[in-house]
Amino acid sequence: MVKNPFILAPYVSKELFCDRKEEMSNILQYLRNGRNITLISPRRLGKTGLIYRVFDEIKTGGAEFDTIYVDISATQSIDDFIKVFAQAVVAAIGHRSRIASFFSALGGLRPLLSYDSISGSPGLTITYRNEEEKPATLSNILSFLEKNRKPVVVAIDEFQQIREYEGVNMEAVLRSHIQKLINVRFIFCGSRKHVMADMFSNAKSPFYASTTPLSLKKLDVEVYTDFISDRFSENGKTIDRDTIKIILDWSRGHTFYTQTLCNECFMISKSRVTMETVYEAINHILLSNVEYFLEIRRLITTQQWALLKAIAKEGRVEHPTASSFLKKHGLSSGASVLKSLNALVEKELVLVSASAGNPVYMVYNVFLSRYLEILA
Ligand SMILES: Nc1ncnc2c1ncn2[C@@H]1O[C@H](COP(=O)(O)OP(=O)(O)OP(=O)(O)O)[C@@H](O)[C@H]1O
Ligand SMILES: [Mg+2]
Repeated sequence: MVKNPFILAPYVSKELFCDRKEEMSNILQYLRNGRNITLISPRRLGKTGLIYRVFDEIKTGGAEFDTIYVDISATQSIDDFIKVFAQAVVAAIGHRSRIASFFSALGGLRPLLSYDSISGSPGLTITYRNEEEKPATLSNILSFLEKNRKPVVVAIDEFQQIREYEGVNMEAVLRSHIQKLINVRFIFCGSRKHVMADMFSNAKSPFYASTTPLSLKKLDVEVYTDFISDRFSENGKTIDRDTIKIILDWSRGHTFYTQTLCNECFMISKSRVTMETVYEAINHILLSNVEYFLEIRRLITTQQWALLKAIAKEGRVEHPTASSFLKKHGLSSGASVLKSLNALVEKELVLVSASAGNPVYMVYNVFLSRYLEILA
């Protein structure tokens, strides 16, 4: 059976992952030189995939580091953080005897390990006797890694989440531990730009200027065009460069949206992918997302929806309070537009990027943007 070469998961294999060579070699170089890294980009551009790609490269290239991946998106507290971190260490260790020595390094907490009967992934329960044991446990985990035979790379994904923990300044706690480590390097990864920027570039924040920042951009158009063309042709399908250009324009070359459209085109085509195939694929994608779009419609105010639609119809907006923009789209005053705009940015429905230092506003989700664009 032919498998669809356009993956919709962060990482499957080197062959199905497009480019990121420069980013990868930069990250490896920073790690080898003892630096911690902050990786930032808008959502769904490929941060998690890149981490996996780097880890794969490390593994296949002689394993100079041991690697640990921790996703903290679902954590709400320091307890949760310790739990998922310890779980990630267990998953990375693998061997039962090493897990036993990890548990004894944790102290007298009696951690309980279980394996999910379906996925086989390890689950961990840690019981604390008192509050003081929590920071001590974190410190014990890190000391265990510090003593590891090989240097260790820990990637903490969705790092901005630590700002949501109540009753603890998690940044200060982490920073105090991390700065003492020599054998452990960190990659802090996140998509909420202003939160991440505040953590790492604000002189008042514990992590201020302590990492090398790396902001992930879109893939190079030429490189991505070749990649798409090759993946189709090696699976017995042809597509010309003009058609790929339509795909990349429509999806704005934003990896997740481009991959989804290519995946759909691959699925519905026979041996040739034509412009008609692409239009049909676009139709399928928009139709299958309509429920989700309508849900968003229900969750925001009429004014916010009107503004979102106006931004979508423009594609990108530099002056959201300009009278020409307000008039053209029947929007009320500049002040109320600003209020709606802030709400939409906060809800991650509008993406702010910078062009020559000035903010540019776009609808964050490309599919939603394309849907709004064709509404009356
Ligand atoms: N280099 C790449 N080659 C092929 N597909 C990619 C690449 N980078 C990303 N993708 C696609 O984009 C999707 C999103 O990537 P990923 O989950 O790594 O993004 P992210 O930046 O971590 O997003 P989020 O901020 O939402 O966590 C992946 O599921 C995959 O389909
Ligand atoms: Mg991610």
